Amino acid sequence: MEIINRRQRMSSVARKIRREQDKTVGLVPTMGALHDGHLSLVREARRMCDVVVVSVFVNPTQFGPGEDFEHYPRDLTKDTALLTDYNVDYIFAPTVEEIYPKGFSTYVNVEGLSEQLEGASRPGHFRGVATVVTVLLNTIRPDFAFFGQKDAQQALVIRRLVKDLAFDTEIVILPIVREDSGLAISSRNLYLTPDEQNSAAVIHKALVQAKSAYKEGERNANRIMEIIRNTVESEPRARLDYVAVTDAETLERVDRVDDRPTLIALAAYVGKTRLIDNTILNKVKKKDGAATQ
Ligand code: PAF
Repeated sequence: MEIINRRQRMSSVARKIRREQDKTVGLVPTMGALHDGHLSLVREARRMCDVVVVSVFVNPTQFGPGEDFEHYPRDLTKDTALLTDYNVDYIFAPTVEEIYPKGFSTYVNVEGLSEQLEGASRPGHFRGVATVVTVLLNTIRPDFAFFGQKDAQQALVIRRLVKDLAFDTEIVILPIVREDSGLAISSRNLYLTPDEQNSAAVIHKALVQAKSAYKEGERNANRIMEIIRNTVESEPRARLDYVAVTDAETLERVDRVDDRPTLIALAAYVGKTRLIDNTILNKVKKKDGAATQ
């Protein structure tokens, strides 16, 4: 495994693999602090592609003022050890200056999908995500790029980006990985105290209750959101930021849930830590569990 820090070197290595060796390249973009969620993406990339690149880059442009960019967990030594075990071929770990050199002034904005839910709570977040993903895809030109369903809106934004700007990369979205308690695995779980970890299980519990209500016949989106709100707020350490019931593709709010795939997405604070989670009602089942574009 080689660790590459320079954009130019990454670009020429990837070009060589594609052209001279005629091999498929898979990219797993991450911000490091790797956990089982990332590793499920790496495992699938390893299964599907000849060569696997994992990028580790804490992207400043997707953090708003007052967010946790400075404190975001960083441990490249630990990440490298994990990725060695997973037989990854390259780690691309550029500096901020390497991705955003002096004079950088082009940003990518996926209109519509970027504005609601996370975009409303974190203005500019998806502009930062779309921009860095564009730079990564253009640098590496992977055949496949792997993302997690935990960031449901991010997955939709990236699919739209790839389609609209005609990237020659297939986007693979893989299911949420959870702790035994149901808590969705996230790098930000590292901020939680043990008590907060226990409390954070309420987020998944709320989604499960909403899903059961749907299975028992509840179709009113307001009542489904009410179930989530009441459950999350029954936990003293938790505070709901938002909950939304939307079309799973367009993110348009729905009043009544019909037979279309419908996303229930929420963000909640547990202590000072902001966590997101989601579930899809009427999910279209894929044979291999992965949803590709
Ligand atoms: O999901 C993440 O970790 C980040 O948003 C991504 C896709 C690596 C872009 O910085």
